[in-house]
Amino acid sequence: VSQQLTGTLALAVFTAALGSLQMGYSLGVINAPQKVKRTIVIERHYARSLGVYNEELARRGGGNATEHEEPTDASVVMYWSLSVAIFAIGGMVSSFLVSFVSDFRGRIKGMLYINVLAVTAGLLMGLSKLGTPYLMVIAGCAIMGLYCGLSSGLVPLYIGEISPVKYRGAMGALHQLAIVIGILISQVIGLDFLLGNDDMWHVLLGLSGAPAILQSLLLLVCPESPRFLYIKQGKVEEACKSLKRLKGDYDTSKDIAEMQAEKEKGMKEAQMSILRLLRSSVYRQQLFVALMMHLSQQFSGINAIFYYSTSIFQSAGVGQPVYATVGVGVINIIFTLVSVILVDRAGRRTLTIVGLGGMCCCAVAMTVGLAFQDIYSWMSYLSMAAIFLFFEIGPGPIPWLIVAEIFSQGPRPAAIALAGCCNWTCNFIIGMVFAGAVFIVFAVLLFGFTVFIYLRVPETKGKTFEEIAAVFHRKRGAPPSKPQEEAEMVQLKSSTEA
Ligand code: GLC
Repeated sequence: VSQQLTGTLALAVFTAALGSLQMGYSLGVINAPQKVKRTIVIERHYARSLGVYNEELARRGGGNATEHEEPTDASVVMYWSLSVAIFAIGGMVSSFLVSFVSDFRGRIKGMLYINVLAVTAGLLMGLSKLGTPYLMVIAGCAIMGLYCGLSSGLVPLYIGEISPVKYRGAMGALHQLAIVIGILISQVIGLDFLLGNDDMWHVLLGLSGAPAILQSLLLLVCPESPRFLYIKQGKVEEACKSLKRLKGDYDTSKDIAEMQAEKEKGMKEAQMSILRLLRSSVYRQQLFVALMMHLSQQFSGINAIFYYSTSIFQSAGVGQPVYATVGVGVINIIFTLVSVILVDRAGRRTLTIVGLGGMCCCAVAMTVGLAFQDIYSWMSYLSMAAIFLFFEIGPGPIPWLIVAEIFSQGPRPAAIALAGCCNWTCNFIIGMVFAGAVFIVFAVLLFGFTVFIYLRVPETKGKTFEEIAAVFHRKRGAPPSKPQEEAEMVQLKSSTEA
């Protein structure tokens, strides 16, 4: 089996990851509940279009947004909160459609079609000054949320399916790398002297649709997933062609045999809808692990840091907190790069355990630092160091890539849909509930998640999809379960055919 890295494979992964970049940019630009200048600027435009703009405050601020210029009208705050919330709700809703979109005309066409959403959202936000800003931005956020929910499923699915086993982890982690790069880009160009100001804020928001245009062009030359072509569509020749484009000129028979084995199993197990997957006892173990991985990612407080770091730096007395936040973004990218390098060597399990354990220590340090910084001023350094070290080495990228690994072709899209929905729902809850940074809660949760992963999650590095399935079946244990399992498969199949 060829494990070589070809130009086409690199191009395909890069193209898919543009979707993740776009998601990161949108996350970064829309999700800024802290009072950074760009949100104040946007709120001000909301206020104008709602007719509740406070000229008095504006005069005091000299026309420039200041951190002290609080929005004066409750409706402005409400509409801005709605814009932020509706983005995550869009993600929750559309992640359910991942299985439908990915199986409809394939992974490539799926990614292509959903770009219509991204471009529409970008246009609505970019042109919002021409209409009623708050309405157009809210509509844009909702549509961008729909795009992100779909993209966060389709990208890992496609990358997982086309990557050679040896590099599957690293390539899967590129999804997260692109997300954090997107977040950083939005933070940097959102600075007030670049686009985060009165004249340019709509461009800042509108640019969130830009990667979709480049991605759409590149997708036209990317090969479709061979697994989709062979297993879902039965197109042997096209699957071989696609394999050769991705991996170079090699003997595809081993890869085809592996897909054939998966297909045969798939014939027994039938196409899985989300409901069926939820009901099936055969996949309960895998599904539990998949959902827990996503729960642990979100309830680790990954986004709490990213939403609140500016205010934490501010309370720790940092003069230019926004720049410190940009620094956190840079460190985030470095740690994600480390994951890309390590994930196929150290393994998913080890990295997740180390990452969650490290975050647990940071959450404790942050709690202690924030609690005592008024008494001992040096304690503020402790909380700042903890923010910088709140690394996402494992928990950032791994949940996204592991779901594509632990399910076979039949239930894979449905599993990705459920896991994505779990991720976005938790993301929404964190954004809404944690109005401040309550890191002691995260510390306790992180401890629990670390223990769970240690006890329940098997290693998947270097294993084929078949071998991974076998690990879970072994874990389910009890040999008598075999006939029972087959009976369930048959039952599932006949109910699908009915
Ligand atoms: C992960 C999370 C996402 C988060 C990002 C950056 O991809 O799913 O919610 O914003 O990492 O921390």
